[in-house]
Parts: sequence; structure tokens; C-alpha cells
Amino acid sequence: MLKRTAKCTELTLDDVGSSQVLCGWVNRRRNLGNLIFITLRDISGIIQLVFDGGKDPELFAMAEQLRSEYVIAARGTLAARTGDMVNPNMKTGAIELKVEELEILSRSQTPPFEIEESAKVSDALRLKYRYLDLRRPELQQNIIMKHKVSQLVYEYLSANGFLNIETPMLTKSTPEGARDYLVPSRIHKGKFYALPQSPQLFKQLLMISGYDRYFQLARCFRDEDLRADRQPEFTQIDMEMSFVDMEDVMTLNEGLLKHIFKNTLGLDIETPFVRMKYSEAMERYGCDKPDTRFGLELCNVSDIVKDCGFKVFTDAIANGGTVRAINAKGASFSRKEIDSLGEFVKTYNAKGLAWINIGDEVKSSFTKFLAPEVTEALIERLDGQKGDALLFVADAKPAIVFTALSALRIECGKRLNLIDSKKFNFLWVTEFPMFEYSEEEGRLVAMHHPFTAPLDEDLQYLESEPERVHAKAYDIVLNGTEIGGGSIRIHTTEVQERMLEALKFTKEDAWDRFGFLLEALKYGAPPHGGLAYGLDRLVMHITGGDNIRDCIAFPKVQNASDLMSGAPDFVEEKQLRDLKIKTEE
Ligand code: AMO
Ligand code: AMP
Repeated sequence: MLKRTAKCTELTLDDVGSSQVLCGWVNRRRNLGNLIFITLRDISGIIQLVFDGGKDPELFAMAEQLRSEYVIAARGTLAARTGDMVNPNMKTGAIELKVEELEILSRSQTPPFEIEESAKVSDALRLKYRYLDLRRPELQQNIIMKHKVSQLVYEYLSANGFLNIETPMLTKSTPEGARDYLVPSRIHKGKFYALPQSPQLFKQLLMISGYDRYFQLARCFRDEDLRADRQPEFTQIDMEMSFVDMEDVMTLNEGLLKHIFKNTLGLDIETPFVRMKYSEAMERYGCDKPDTRFGLELCNVSDIVKDCGFKVFTDAIANGGTVRAINAKGASFSRKEIDSLGEFVKTYNAKGLAWINIGDEVKSSFTKFLAPEVTEALIERLDGQKGDALLFVADAKPAIVFTALSALRIECGKRLNLIDSKKFNFLWVTEFPMFEYSEEEGRLVAMHHPFTAPLDEDLQYLESEPERVHAKAYDIVLNGTEIGGGSIRIHTTEVQERMLEALKFTKEDAWDRFGFLLEALKYGAPPHGGLAYGLDRLVMHITGGDNIRDCIAFPKVQNASDLMSGAPDFVEEKQLRDLKIKTEE
């Protein structure tokens, strides 16, 4: 077999005249009578091969057999292209290999889609043939970038005293709040392992064991509804540090991100990042992961409209709700566009969208119910000028107003082209409430997780006024995505037990689920804290993508199945018998 001497795009004009062996896939074939041009593809990119029928008819006949995706090895002499044969759009556009010997290493059936054209075929087909789609240069670049980021993480964290330590996959349920993936135990009838939603408890135990600083590129599993930035299995850059406060964790992570962005995109990102309290993020953007690349901030107008004549507003406020608005500055929306935004907010459970459109004349869906001074006050509060559209949502549940307006803000930002895709806006969101009310469970749950420490000054309210307690938690947000989150942890049994009690865990329940941690806390735990990034999300931003699926070699689709392997699948009766599991028909 011919032995490769270089990768396709490693060769340059300096190598002209040398003999080379290149290996790869037939990307494209063009037959021009007595000349055949092949673009050959490998992991590095593509190069042109030339077969000259006038020189070696036998070789030429062999080249005529070549089809897309055949794997070949070609030996030849590297030549410079001349005149308009030079292709400035190709890294190797100034050179080509004049082939003298060809080996067909393997043949390919006609692929279900052309690799270069695969962006045009359906997702389902591409995912079924993921191994073919992965030949696409864009996907290869993403996968390579993920490797590079991983390497930079190892480099930076190792240099800062972190040890890479593995934690188990077959474990007990962890408290990240999603549904677990369970693995039945064959030996312990009726018992199950849970795949980790994160290594949270283990990394805390490692601190208690004295390892000082831990990190891991950890696979995590969460059985939750998929979205563009959520997969059932994903990878965290997970870390934990001893004897630190919030400031230490944040500073170290700013350094890590600086290192990553410098060595991938060549960008000098500015540190320290902006820090914003949760309450301010909600007030200004309606969400805890704001995209700060553009304005259109939310504005509270409840005080202006609380006694106005418009029932939608007054009822919402009377029932404990709020009325807020954004000004889509200079939008010059048509009536039709405003109606479509009304439909848009309804998908976020808002009951409607009230509006004032300031064109040549001021039009509105509701100001007819208002005294003129109230309308004026609204326009003034929102700085309404000609061309602006003032968009209001009212609801008795403030969360609905925030969610709907936050989504509307992004939608308007997109429609009005306000989002600069070249910008990377990092933001720390801090001082999260310790608890949030879960409608589903009818009780308070931990907003981050139950091992997060409360702010020292709030600890006294843990039992009496839990809604007043804030956490030593922080999220790192990039362009509107939560790329990571973490906290300082509780490191005494006393506070940990109080916390679990506040969360209405009975003592038995708490010990049953997290007993090993509660016990460990009794044997000398250092103050500690940490953070975990979604590696897939981080890489998605670095590669400029919009779905983490494109940064995962073998991802799952919406319904959590793998279209290529067919997982999940039925298993053999015998396997179920061994596990003592009966399935319902
Ligand atoms: P958290 O649950 O916030 O914290 O997760 C950390 C980060 O992981 C990413 N992430 C996901 N990425 C892809 N698909 C998913 N389904 C998914 N779920 C989460 C997000 C998120 O910010 N143990 C804590 C961390 C800590 O406290 O140190 C934890 O897991 O980018
Ligand atoms: P109506 O009087 O019901 O026709 O409503 C007048 C305007 O108020 C319409 O533009 C509705 O879309 C809007 N509207 C209805 N419910 C709400 C709400 N909860 N928040 C904001 N606007 C609303």
C-alpha cells in the first residue's frame, strides 16, 4: 500500500516538484475529455489531483472508475497551477498533484447525499448517516474545536493546580433537578443506579478528601425535554476548589475563558466580566441569562396604569401582577407585524400584547380606554419617539410577563437586526434567590441545588422567611446563553441539615438520598465552591453555531433517540429476565 507523505492541505508552493503520496476521499470528480480532476478530501481539507490521459492511459482508465467517497491513495509530483487555473478560494488553490500511481483503498456506494451538499438535505437523513455528515468540513471544524477547547481547559486548569479525577457513572440520584436516567442492577433485584446529572456530590467529597482543586470533562445525563441547547447527554467542564470565596472562583474562570478565547479565536476578551444581580437582570431583561449585546430593556409601567381605565392592566395589577413594556425603537412596525408579535407572545402564555405604534399618527390597541395624560406618561416613560412601537404585557403572574417580554425582546432584536454576531458579551449573574416555588411540586425547591450556601447575612432567615434568602451562586452567561453555573457550597452538617429541612426533606429522606455527603461533612470539610460549564454550549458559541447538536459527534434528536444506531431499543427477553424486569405491553 502507498504510504501517505502529507495531509492534503499541508503542502504549499514550496513543495512544488516533490513526490508526494496523499490519501483520502474522492470529494468531486470532473472529467474533461483527456483530463480528470479529482478533489481529494482528508481531515485537513481538500487538494486537486490531476490525471492526464495522454501520459498514462492505464492509470487514466483507473481514474475513470473513481466515484464520490471512494477512498484512494495517490502518488505523484506536486505542481504549481498556472494562470486562471489558480483557485483563490481554496487553501491549496495554487497547487495540484499530477498523479503517477493510484490505489483504490475502498469503494463507496452512491452516498445518500453529496457531502458538500448535505446542508440541503433533511436533518433526519443526515442524522441517520451521521458518519457521512461528519465528513462535512463545518462539522469537522466543530469537532476539532471541541478538542482544542478541551485541551486548553486541561492546560489552564492543570497549570492552576487542578487535578483531573474521574467520578462514577453508575451512581445514586444527584440533585440537579431533572429526571434521572436509571440503570437496573442485575445483582440487586429491584434496585437501580442513576446516571449522574452532574458529578456534584463527588466533587464535594473530593474536596473533603483534601484534593484541593478538581476538574473533569464530565459526561452528564438528564432526562429532560430537548432544546437547541439541551441534549440528554452532554459534557461539562466541571471543577471544584477548596478554601475559596465567590470572587476566587469567578476570577479563575475569567482567566480560563480568556485563555480559551485567545487560543481559539485569537480574541482578547475583557475581564473582569460585568456582574449583575439576579434581581437587576430580571428587572432589566426579564430573565436570568440576558443577551446584553443590544438594548430594548424592559420597563415597569405598573405605577402609571394601576388606576387607568383599561381592565386588562388594572385587573392584572389588582391580582398581584405587573404591567411591563419594551420600546421597539425605530421599528416602524406595520399592523401586520405587530399582530404577529401578539401571536408570538401568546406562545409564552401571555394573554395578549397591547401596543402603541408611533407613526405619522399615534395608533394603539388600548389607549382609547385611557385619559390622555396616562397615555402621555406611558410614552414619556418609554421614551417613545416617531417610528417606535411600545409593546405591553400584563398578567397577574409576574413570571409570565417576564418570560413573554424577555422572549419578545430577543425576537425584536432579531427582527430589527440589533444583534451583533461578532460580539461576545460575558456576564456574571449573581445573588440568585436560594429558593423558587415549584408549581409542580407545590413547595419551595432549591434554585441551584440544595448544597449551595446562602449569603451569610441571609442565613438567619432560612426558617422564618426563606423567600428572602439569597445564594452564593453565580451563572456565567454568554450572549444570552447560560454557559455555566456554580456556587459556594455549604460545608457544615448543621447548615446542610437546616437547608434540607427548609426544603422539606424529612430527616430519613435526606439521609437516604444524600447520607454519604451529610456523614462526610462531619469529618472536617474545607470551605469550597466550584462551577460547571456546558462544554457543548461553549463550543457552539465559539464556532458560531446555533445548536449544540453540531458540536456533538453522535447527538440525539428531539425525542431523545439516536437515528443512526436506533437507540433506545427493545432488549432480549433473557436480559430482562436476568434483571427481573417485566415490561408492560
Ligand atoms: P447546572 O445544572 O447549571 O449546574 O449545569 C451546568 C451547565 O451545564 C450545561 N447544561 C447542559 N448542556 C447541554 N445539555 C443539557 N441538558 C444541559 N444541562 C446543563 C449548562 C449549565 O450552565 N453541579 C452543578 C454545577 C456546580 O454547581 O458546580 C451543575 O450541574 O451550560
Ligand atoms: P381587548 O379589549 O381584549 O380587545 O384587548 C385590547 C388589547 O389588549 C389587545 O391589543 C390585546 O392583545 C391586548 N391584551 C389582552 N390581554 C393582554 C395582556 N394580558 N397583556 C397585554 N395586552 C393584552
